[in-house]
Amino acid sequence: MLPKIQETADYLKNIINTNPKIGIILGTGLGNLVTQLTETIEIPYEKIPNFPISTVEGHSGKLIIGKLGNTEVLAMQGRFHYYEGYDMKQVTFPVRVMKAIGIDTLLVSNASGGMNPEFEIGDLMIINDHINLFPEHPLRGKNFNELGTRFPDMSEAYSKELIAKAKEIAIKNDIHVVEGVYVGTTGPTFETPAEYKYFRIIGGDAVGMSTVPEVIVANHSGMRVFGISIITDLGVPGKIVEVSHEEVQEIGNKVQPLMTLIMKELVDSL
Ligand code: HPA
Repeated sequence: MLPKIQETADYLKNIINTNPKIGIILGTGLGNLVTQLTETIEIPYEKIPNFPISTVEGHSGKLIIGKLGNTEVLAMQGRFHYYEGYDMKQVTFPVRVMKAIGIDTLLVSNASGGMNPEFEIGDLMIINDHINLFPEHPLRGKNFNELGTRFPDMSEAYSKELIAKAKEIAIKNDIHVVEGVYVGTTGPTFETPAEYKYFRIIGGDAVGMSTVPEVIVANHSGMRVFGISIITDLGVPGKIVEVSHEEVQEIGNKVQPLMTLIMKELVDSL
């Protein structure tokens, strides 16, 4: 794995002549932030050595290097999901590469189903913790000390400092945000009512099919992490209706400009 990470990092370093310290992973259909980037270089995933190829509908699958405000960032438009058939090393490979090119802060976004009865469709949830329910752990297997420690601490998987800053930004811009625990599951099925109930009982506020693997690897790599989730449907008893990928994307589209604003100002403040 180490030579592959290095090969991909070298490939990217040769193309980009900047030195981004901030990486951004944009979730399903959540590419709006990319429209705010200037001085961009776009690299489709197919062209990047050792990168898996994104297959899910609504993902365009490219790396975009550019400036968000005055700050250099490297953004992934589209991510690799476990349910697509990739193994966890593939799902999290881009995070390893980010670290290898010097990125130390990771911003992630996703769409999720809300289980917290106070939540509404279209809410933005700042992720303050997660529960990993994926059947395979991204750090299972031989540990490479060059990448991180064998038993990484996860007591602050999502940076408290970044959460506090994001909340200030939301208040300043009059954006309603909620906060909570993201449950990461395999998918690709949405939850049954009993599963939503179970995820609520174990302490979840929202559930989705991504993010947790990347955040684990980012923590293993010593990066600080900020995550935000768009609540696209509700897994709350009495409010559960049929969900589709299209609806998830439609709600995501509506709310993304607010999420972009928070992320942009957060990046500005770093
Ligand atoms: N469950 C899992 N993943 C999701 C959901 C959901 O309800 N909504 C958007 N992504």
